[in-house]
Formats: sequence, structure tokens, C-alpha cells
Amino acid sequence: MDGLTPPPNDLGAYWMPFTANRQFKANPRLLVAADGMYYRSHDGRQVLDGTAGLWCVNAGHNAPRVTEAIRQAAGVLDYAPSFQMGHPGAFRLASRLAELAPGDLNHVFFTGSGSESVETALKIALAYHRAKGQGQRTRLIGRERGYHGVGFGGIAVGGILNNRRAFGSLFAGVDHLRHTHDPARNAFSRGQPTHGAELADDLERLVALHGADTIAAVIVEPLAGSTGVLVPPVGYLERLRGICDRHGILLIFDEVITGFGRLGAPFAADRFGVLPDLMTTAKGLTNGAVPMGAVFARDHVHDAIVQGPEHLIELFHGYTYSGHPLACAAAEAVLDTYAVEGLFERAAGLEGAFADAVHSLRGKPHVIDVRNLGLVGGIELESRPGAPGGRAHEVFVRCYGAGVLIRVTGDIIALSPPLIVEEGQIARMVETIADALAAVE
Ligand SMILES: Cc1ncc(COP(=O)(O)O)c(C=O)c1O
Repeated sequence: MDGLTPPPNDLGAYWMPFTANRQFKANPRLLVAADGMYYRSHDGRQVLDGTAGLWCVNAGHNAPRVTEAIRQAAGVLDYAPSFQMGHPGAFRLASRLAELAPGDLNHVFFTGSGSESVETALKIALAYHRAKGQGQRTRLIGRERGYHGVGFGGIAVGGILNNRRAFGSLFAGVDHLRHTHDPARNAFSRGQPTHGAELADDLERLVALHGADTIAAVIVEPLAGSTGVLVPPVGYLERLRGICDRHGILLIFDEVITGFGRLGAPFAADRFGVLPDLMTTAKGLTNGAVPMGAVFARDHVHDAIVQGPEHLIELFHGYTYSGHPLACAAAEAVLDTYAVEGLFERAAGLEGAFADAVHSLRGKPHVIDVRNLGLVGGIELESRPGAPGGRAHEVFVRCYGAGVLIRVTGDIIALSPPLIVEEGQIARMVETIADALAAVE
């Protein structure tokens, strides 16, 4: 394989995830190589990456340190069991991550993906209350329009109808906060919208309904990515933290997208100055190069569970690939890259120019809202009557044809370029979107 081999002419066997399989296979879009800000497509075109892959390639494609670390690690230790055994790289990486994380998020549990991180965090929350003698606290609270991956726990606390409705009764004892999207008051906000902190009080409503002593945890994305870039209103996360504290409810931030510099700080918890009890991550942890996730736990959460007789397993949970040696090697090189290249600071420095660029789409055909924070932009289009998502999909296909990869969810365009992006490349993304908007009905 030279990376340029034409696609197989039978695409039938691969059942693709979150894809309109038949539509895709009628007109496939295959990527065969990548470097820096660009993909190369199977038909030999350069494609500017406006989405960091799937929100994960924060350091740009094939970051040299990462590629080299993977090469080296592959020949040394292919695999080490993660139960009752370990390898030095996992301990070293955990220490470095704990150092990077805010506050006393000092304990790191490795997983293989964002979805596994979410399942892990929910289970830790339940185990925590049980260890504290409050085993009746089993209720989990998510939020409408939340995306927490595709495990049963994640889709239960998640708030996306299509991700839930085909899959039965999920599990009982879950409720949801209202989402924070309020275009009537906040359309075209630059950065955090001003209205909506009071929506956090919805948690008080659920406490009044169910009783605080039945609620284990609340999980939210600090900034909801997958459902269309919903930026938290000023004061909202602080208020949620306060209510959780008042009622002994654990607060989980799902930072699978926001972690590792996306908002111009190591984590959204840093950016907003709100410390969760548990934090789920994946994606940017390894720059997408090897699958890996990590859950961060504060001292009090860890210490409540890791106690009792020393010869007994404290938490009956883990994965064959927790702390996989190759993933650990990749992640350490990714952390080096972030630090040496100053990528979190770079993202912070670009935020203003990025905001100017995406907000320049205000007034273009079909655009009904633009929102942004860090290096995340959301451009919402008016849906066609009876055909939600159709217009944005056409914009996506046109942009790809013009050499720019964007992401769409429903009729919302999401931009989240690698943090190495140049201002000229941001301009090209936005111009390409503007051209596509002008061309679609
Ligand atoms: C906030 C959030 N949580 C969890 C996930 C699931 O991650 P994965 O696809 O690695 O399982 C995602 C993926 O986009 C996400 O955005």
C-alpha cells in the first residue's frame, strides 16, 4: 500500500458508524494521507482540515514527535495487561496529566475512548456514593442536547433523540436539565452569551422532584460540541457547581471535546474557573493518533473508593486496553508537542481573529446564528421546511469538493480546526463556506 491506492470498488462490507451508508457508498469520500493542516483525498486533492478530524487532531496531523514516539514504542512493548499489572509509561502519563489538570483532579483512570470515559465516570460516581454509605443516590442527571458518546450510560444521560430512540428502555433513574440554547435572547453572541445563567436552577427543580438524596451526579459538556456548539451562558457553570455543592451531587464535566486546548486553556474547567469532581477526556489526549481516553477524579472521589482492605480490588471496572503502551507513548509525545509548540496559548491568541472570521458569516444566505468560543465556531442555518439537515449537508459536500473539510450536525456547521491553524487558513475556511452558502438553495 502506498497510500495512493484507489478505493476498493466494493464498499459493502464496512458498516460505517454515524453515516448514511448507502448515500456515502454511492459517492465515497476517502482520505488516504494527512500532514499538518491538510488531508489528501483518494482522488489526489489537498483538503484543508477545518474540524481537526473529529475534534481530536489538536496538534495537527502527523505531528512529528507523536509519529516518532509511536514508531519507537511499537517495537518495545506491544502490550501489557492492565489488571494487577502495569508498565512505567502509564504511571508516567498519569502523573503528567494530573500535573496538567486543574485543582486536585489528581487521579487518572485510562479508557479507550470518550464513550468509555463517560461510562467510567458514571460508574465512579455511583461507586463513590455507595462507598460513602449513600447507595440510594443512583439517579444520574444529563442535559438536553448533551452528547456523551454511545454507551448505554452515555445515551441515557445524553439528550439526542436519534441516538436513543432505537435502543429500548436505556436505564431507569435518569433525568435531564434543560439545554442552554436560547437564540431569541442570545443569537450572534461573541463568546459566552449573556443570558441564561438561571437555567442552571433547573437542577433545583429536579432536586425538588426527586430528592437530592437520590441523585448521584450531573454530567454536562462545559461547551456542547456535537449538538451544534452551544456555549455556556456567563455564570451558568458556576451556578451549577454551587447547586451540586449544596446538595452533595457530583459534577462531571465531559471534556472529550473541550479538553487539551480547544478553548485556549488546558481544559474548559480552567477556562471557566469551575472545578468538576470528575472530568472525562479522550480525543486530543492522543491527538487522535491512537485511541485512548482518560477520566480525572478529585482526591475526595478517589479516596472514598480506594480504601478498605489493601488486598481487595477497590473498583471493579477497567478495560483490556486501559493505559495501552502505544497510546501512552503517543499521549506523552502529544503533551510534549502541546507544551513545546505552545499550542494552548496559540489557540487563545487566535480566538479573536477566529471569532471575527466566523462572525463575518452573519448576513450570508440562510445564516440564522453564529456562535464561538476558543477555536470552536458554530454557524446555524435555517432548515428547509420538512427537510432538516439537508441544506447543511449540501454545504458540507460543496466545501469538501472545494477542498475544505467542515462538520455539520443537523443544520449547524461546526468549525474546530487544529490549534496550529494559520489566520489565512481560517479565512479560506470561512470564504469556502460563504461560497457554498451562496450556491445552495
Ligand atoms: C462530549 C463527548 N463525549 C463523549 C464522546 C464520545 O467519544 P468517542 O467517540 O471517543 O467514544 C464525544 C465524541 O464526540 C463527545 O464529543
